[in-house]
Amino acid sequence: MEDKMSNIAHEYIEDYIRGLIPPRKGHIKVMEDYAIENDVPIVHSEVAQFLRVLIKSHGIKKILEVGTAIGYSASIMAEAAGEGCRVVTIERDEDMYRLASDNIKKLDYENTIGILKGDAMEVLKDIEGEFDMIFLDASKGHYDHFLPMCLKHLKINGLLVSDNVLFRGMIATDKLLIRRKITIVKRMRKYLAHISNMPELETSVLPIGDGVALSCKLQEV
Ligand SMILES: C[S@@+](CC[C@H](N)C(=O)[O-])C[C@H]1O[C@@H](n2cnc3c(N)ncnc32)[C@H](O)[C@@H]1O
Repeated sequence: MEDKMSNIAHEYIEDYIRGLIPPRKGHIKVMEDYAIENDVPIVHSEVAQFLRVLIKSHGIKKILEVGTAIGYSASIMAEAAGEGCRVVTIERDEDMYRLASDNIKKLDYENTIGILKGDAMEVLKDIEGEFDMIFLDASKGHYDHFLPMCLKHLKINGLLVSDNVLFRGMIATDKLLIRRKITIVKRMRKYLAHISNMPELETSVLPIGDGVALSCKLQEV
């Protein structure tokens, strides 16, 4: 829930949309406040809300997340998916892993959310089973590398949600480009072109939060 200028939607639109979302309660709110105070990049609240709608409308129960941070989006998704759900989330940073584990314990989600520690490039190779939804929210420059492994673990008609795909507007226009981000920008443009043109996927790119791509897996890759 970063409140920096996104360069994606007008600020007044973002503020208005965020104002419509019921405030989070309890320990989820504590996590939100912690993220703001400590500059931890958690999902924007309108994207969290979008995930909740997808989960509830599709009866999603098995979720894989790449990029746990403090466990905020994993907890939001577990809450939305409700009883009998399973969220598996991957985090490589030791401190984030510890904070997320602690938060998950406080929320009593120890049997619902499993955190796998390590680099997603390695961890994804060892994951077993199929998921109804995959939330990709880790190193932006590597989405295209994660893609084949994610698709392998996504069931037919499952949803792939990729966050930060418009990266502060830089992906859509060079006018906003920060030179040191050029590699990420080039890779993300390649990723978006890829998922938009794969016959195995149907993709829609949405200008909410920092940009979200929603893809549905139509057939095996
Ligand atoms: C944007 S944050 C995730 C935020 C979280 N999904 C939320 O909204 O609450 C990205 C996280 O991904 C982790 N990360 C980045 N690259 C990774 C990789 N290759 N493997 C595993 N974790 C990674 C970072 O350490 C960071 O904590």
